[in-house]
Amino acid sequence: MIVTLASFKGGVGKTTSAVHLACYLSKLGSCLVVDGDPNRSATSWSKRGNLPFKAVDLVAAPKYARQFEHTVIDTAARPSEDDLEALVDGCDLLILPTSPDALSMEALLKTVSLLKRLGSDRYRILLTLVPPAPRQTGHQAREALIEQKLPLFTQSIRRFAAYEKAALEGKPVYATGDRNGRIAWREYQAVGEELTHG
Ligand SMILES: Nc1ncnc2c1ncn2[C@@H]1O[C@H](COP(=O)(O)OP(=O)(O)OP(=O)(O)O)[C@@H](O)[C@H]1O
Ligand SMILES: [Mg+2]
Repeated sequence: MIVTLASFKGGVGKTTSAVHLACYLSKLGSCLVVDGDPNRSATSWSKRGNLPFKAVDLVAAPKYARQFEHTVIDTAARPSEDDLEALVDGCDLLILPTSPDALSMEALLKTVSLLKRLGSDRYRILLTLVPPAPRQTGHQAREALIEQKLPLFTQSIRRFAAYEKAALEGKPVYATGDRNGRIAWREYQAVGEELTHG
């Protein structure tokens, strides 16, 4: 399976999702992360510490791709229309992480209409960085997306400080020792299950 993470807005959890979905997939089979972001966030995350998969630069990808069962591609924010077309063409599923704030949602809807224009339905939205109760933004965003009949992962990813710790320490969130690390990880596991079971 080849999955790609993309978004028009930056900082919505592409790299965090790429890393944790790759952790999930690497428990099922071999998994390669291809870092398509010139900032190289995913590769530097893996270089800082220890992640259970190989992460390589975009230009090194052809050399490794055939050796792995699964590939997760992390990309830079703000792709051009042509970029997006190439991204869709290059994967089995395009995952669009989105935080529930108005700006991200607006950027998401732009992406979705572009994908429609490209004739692609091989994408799914992942709500990320969902703030804790009593804030309702996560719930409201979900309702709005469902109302528009957009493809959406049933599981949302909540906001946990453990993710920043994970990135800093070069680890997956479950290995940080943060008391919410395992709770956070369960959410990406559930997304991984949705990904692999339809
Ligand atoms: N669920 C979460 N809870 C808390 N913090 C998070 C969560 N997901 C991501 N973050 C933090 O938010 C910031 C942006 O996340 P990330 O780097 O994954 O986004 P991105 O979409 O890859 O950004 P960019 O567009 O810059 O590549 C990071 O500091 C990351 O640690
Ligand atoms: Mg990133």
